[in-house]
Amino acid sequence: MKNRLLCGGFPRIGWIAIVLTVAFLFEGLKHPLFSSEADSTLPEIKQLTVAQKTVTRGAKRRRKKKVKITVAMLDDLVKSKQALPGRLAALPEVPIPPDNPQTEMKIALGKILYFDPRLSSDGDMACSTCHSPGLGFADGMDRSMGFREELGRHSPTVLNAAYNKVQFWDGRSPSLEDQAKGPILAAGEMNNTEENVIAFLNSIPAYKKLFKTVFGRNPDYDDVGKAIASFERTIVTPNAPFDRYMNGEMNALSPKEKRGLILFVSKASCSQCHKGPNFTDDAFHNLAVPQVGPLKEDLGRFNVTKDDKDRGAFKTPTVRNITLTGPYMHNGVFTTLKEVVDFYDQGGGVDPNKDPKVKPLNLTDGEKEELIAFMKTLTGDQPRVEFPLLPQ
Ligand code: HEC
Ligand code: HEC
Repeated sequence: MKNRLLCGGFPRIGWIAIVLTVAFLFEGLKHPLFSSEADSTLPEIKQLTVAQKTVTRGAKRRRKKKVKITVAMLDDLVKSKQALPGRLAALPEVPIPPDNPQTEMKIALGKILYFDPRLSSDGDMACSTCHSPGLGFADGMDRSMGFREELGRHSPTVLNAAYNKVQFWDGRSPSLEDQAKGPILAAGEMNNTEENVIAFLNSIPAYKKLFKTVFGRNPDYDDVGKAIASFERTIVTPNAPFDRYMNGEMNALSPKEKRGLILFVSKASCSQCHKGPNFTDDAFHNLAVPQVGPLKEDLGRFNVTKDDKDRGAFKTPTVRNITLTGPYMHNGVFTTLKEVVDFYDQGGGVDPNKDPKVKPLNLTDGEKEELIAFMKTLTGDQPRVEFPLLPQ
């Protein structure tokens, strides 16, 4: 419908193109017309192309032929600070919730708790066991090893989790504060009880003192969540080559990587879901990823909403730092980015509930390489985190 409107005959279409051009010049792609969730990025890039043609050649003659966006056009867009399709952008400042402001002491306490295995029932598992600084704040395994059993899901990275609108593959937790309180008590993970954790923290004078200083009271389980969340908000990765490019460093990406970015927002239409500064729509989609691991079936988001449309849907993960956080997908079924891209190229897996946005892409081998080269530019400056001294 949109394509027909934009590529049809003059004059009605001419007026639409002129209006679009004005919208681009003054509002960029932030215009509500382009920021609707339902809009795929594919039409966005076509509208963009049409608008540019209008500027350069006048509104009179427009061909039906699709115009391929070039690296030069992309560079111009970035230089003029216009939003990219899918509103891909450099990583902004970390959002801090008003009810849990950052303080240095709170971050330090959160870091100690994050690394302290004594918060687990048998004293040998910490957050850092499955979200390790040496392994991209994930664990490098297809699926995590929990309390004496293999878990059904892959450990997602804590890098940039501060930007997630919801936590977990099925989005069952609304915040970092809430999320951090889960694994300590989960039978399959750190397998502890709230009473034990509080008794342990009270038994260590240095911990008691830290909690008193930061929160003005004795150790409290909600405060454990708050401190860990504050620490996690420092685990972010700005300054990836992509960010530097978006900030005007035109050579931060090679021509091949730029072609990969163009594919990401056009032919491969990855930015339909991997959008915004953190490359996620914070929504859930069923790609029909093959089932592997100890679970017979993982219904994903359905477990939370009990809504049939959510069967087999998982949260769109960020693709930032993707070189550090494999294996890939909620169950770690793919080991390499090549396998992931081949999977998308064939149109995902087989499932009646598969998201219609996932369809065969007909990418050439060269295009697949470009797409992967682009994704590799999303690895940013890594936080330098050393194992802290644990209070005795
Ligand atoms: C036994 C391994 C293990 C331990 C220990 C563990 N996690 Fe996780 N973590 C996982 C797995 C697996 C998931 C995904 C589970 C799911 O989605 O159902 C996850 C999910 C998360 C997420 C959500 C990220 C996202 O993108 O959705 C955060 C944040 C997180 N963990 C932080 C922590 C913190 C903080 C601790 C310590 C209090 C912790 N984890 C302990 C394995 C672990
Ligand atoms: C319909 C929305 C959608 C589209 C389109 C899409 N993705 Fe995804 N992507 C997801 C979801 C959802 C997952 C997790 C699926 C799962 O685990 O079941 C995912 C997972 C990934 C992962 C693995 C990340 C990790 O940490 O495990 C990569 C890499 C990835 N996508 C890249 C791409 C590329 C490249 C494209 C374009 C060819 C693309 N995606 C298109 C939604 C999408």
